Amino acid sequence: MSIPYLKPTVTLLCYAPLLWLVLDALSSNLGSNPIQGLHIRLGDWTLRFLCITLAITPAQTVTGWKSLSPYRQLFGLITFTYGTLHVFVYLTVDHFFVWEVIATDIIESAYLWFGVVAYLIVLVLALTTLKTIKNLMGEHWKKLHKHLYLAAGAALLHYFWQLKGNLAEPLLYSTLIALLLVFRVFIRVKNQQQSGLMVQKTKK
Ligand code: HEM
Repeated sequence: MSIPYLKPTVTLLCYAPLLWLVLDALSSNLGSNPIQGLHIRLGDWTLRFLCITLAITPAQTVTGWKSLSPYRQLFGLITFTYGTLHVFVYLTVDHFFVWEVIATDIIESAYLWFGVVAYLIVLVLALTTLKTIKNLMGEHWKKLHKHLYLAAGAALLHYFWQLKGNLAEPLLYSTLIALLLVFRVFIRVKNQQQSGLMVQKTKK
């Protein structure tokens, strides 16, 4: 079942938090520390879209809705867009592209190491969505894209490491990501068992 105009509508909705952020920035409504406000909102949306991307395959398995497939790529690219803006704010507004200061800050702040790891994985995955690269990679493409769970783990460490107070939100994301991972492992084991049974049957 494919719903007309669903993909462009979803794409537009994905950019609504960005529009809302721009409007808040223009009306000086980013809180007492606007730079931190920018980091937090862009960082939060990067992680939210990363969770949505991870949820697509399990949702497809549960509902059997085949047309969900392209949405994994769409949400992956949206995650990359918000992640890039998050990093861009850090490089420009925080450090005005002064690379020595940026390098020292990253080396000295453990939470940033994990952010960099998460971002580099998201970047590689975004680059390999290009059709020519995807075709060249063949079967390896699927394997590589499972590394999004690694990016999610690194993003969670990046979040927990810098935490100054409320644990509720990062715990919620951690639980969600853990549940999605358990579901994927469960389905994989089930499929392996089923194909094992099929092989046994054909041997008989
Ligand atoms: C995919 C990669 C990344 C994700 C998902 C991510 C996510 C997040 C999240 C969820 C927060 C906390 C928001 C909150 O407190 O509610 C955050 C904060 C932050 N992130 Fe990232 N991040 C990523 C990569 C990076 C990178 C590469 C850098 C810079 C090199 C970076 C720099 C920061 C900074 C400076 C903060 C604000 C810390 C503060 O509160 O002072 N992030 N990020």
